[in-house]
Amino acid sequence: MSKMKLGIVGWRGMVGQVLMDRLMSEGDFSHFETSIFSTSQKGTHHPFTLINSNPILLDAYDLNSLKQMDIILTCQGGDYTSKVHRELRSSGFKGYWIDAASTLRMEDKSVIILDPINKHVIESALKNQQKDFIGGNCTVSLMMLALGGLFASDSIEWISSMTYQAASGAGARHMNELLKQMKFVTDDVMKEGDNLSDKILSVEKKVKTLLSDPSFPSENFGHPLAFNLLPWIDSELENGQSKEEWKASVEANKILQTKNPIAIDGTCVRISAMRCHSQALTIKLKKDIPLNEIESMISEHNPWVKLVANKKAETLQYLTPEFTSGNLQIPIGRVRKMNLGPSFINAFTVGDQLLWGAAEPLRRMLHILLEY
Ligand code: HSE
Repeated sequence: MSKMKLGIVGWRGMVGQVLMDRLMSEGDFSHFETSIFSTSQKGTHHPFTLINSNPILLDAYDLNSLKQMDIILTCQGGDYTSKVHRELRSSGFKGYWIDAASTLRMEDKSVIILDPINKHVIESALKNQQKDFIGGNCTVSLMMLALGGLFASDSIEWISSMTYQAASGAGARHMNELLKQMKFVTDDVMKEGDNLSDKILSVEKKVKTLLSDPSFPSENFGHPLAFNLLPWIDSELENGQSKEEWKASVEANKILQTKNPIAIDGTCVRISAMRCHSQALTIKLKKDIPLNEIESMISEHNPWVKLVANKKAETLQYLTPEFTSGNLQIPIGRVRKMNLGPSFINAFTVGDQLLWGAAEPLRRMLHILLEY
């Protein structure tokens, strides 16, 4: 049988790089005939050594080349999706469109892909001839993987999620800016040595002054993130939520195709971690469930979730962005009954927002298509 033709767009950005690494390390290219597209360098060689691949970059805006593909997988971003997707479909493209950008997520014809949670939804969409499969918001996907067991058993009445989101969620330039901000401050206050504890209060005043210095690097974030946090992510909605906060409920319910939506709401906060998003969760269960049953449901749901004992040492070792960065595990800990009542559960979870938060659901969708 001939191999499916896979076209990849947007391999140079952060999500694209993480995705290409995963595809190569898992040997995924052996299953496809791959073409790599570029928005700016058509006709030149791409930098990868790939099995079954055309070595020359194709034009990512050429509908005829795109139309030859069975699958287009794009991490190029929302502007590209807006420019190309509709026109490509109107021109008769019947292949699968797998996309990391949010542009098409809430379209009726789109499925948000997170197969450890909604493989049944994906499979029924495939039977239904749906062709647009879109990666979810990273925070939502990571929260759902952590709580998969509670969603699967329909145990959740509502969730309040307070997030601690890494700089990577805003983009590569923002990560770079975070480093520059840290350097701007520490180079200055430590220029005569780094043992500052005796004068730490005056050093703190100096840090505050530096954060508002006209040459402080903040063109991307617009504000200091280093030595600070930013409790607003994405645009303002009229109801007082940020757009990032709005996504939690609408996307989670779309992922699960719930008949009775589960309310999810909270405050999304940017912090100075590099690439792992964390979330503090208050979960209202539909009924009182013993803690050991809750822990089993969580830990047995999928191979990536890692239940961390609610103990100080384990928590500080395993339930951090530092531990989770660069790996596919989804640690969840601080799981306990809250003093609010027997059906209120506290939890804290961390996930790599470039892996499970972005690239991995797209990569796994390729395998679902191979099996289909
Ligand atoms: N919107 C997320 C963030 C990243 O800003 O952290 C992409 O899902």
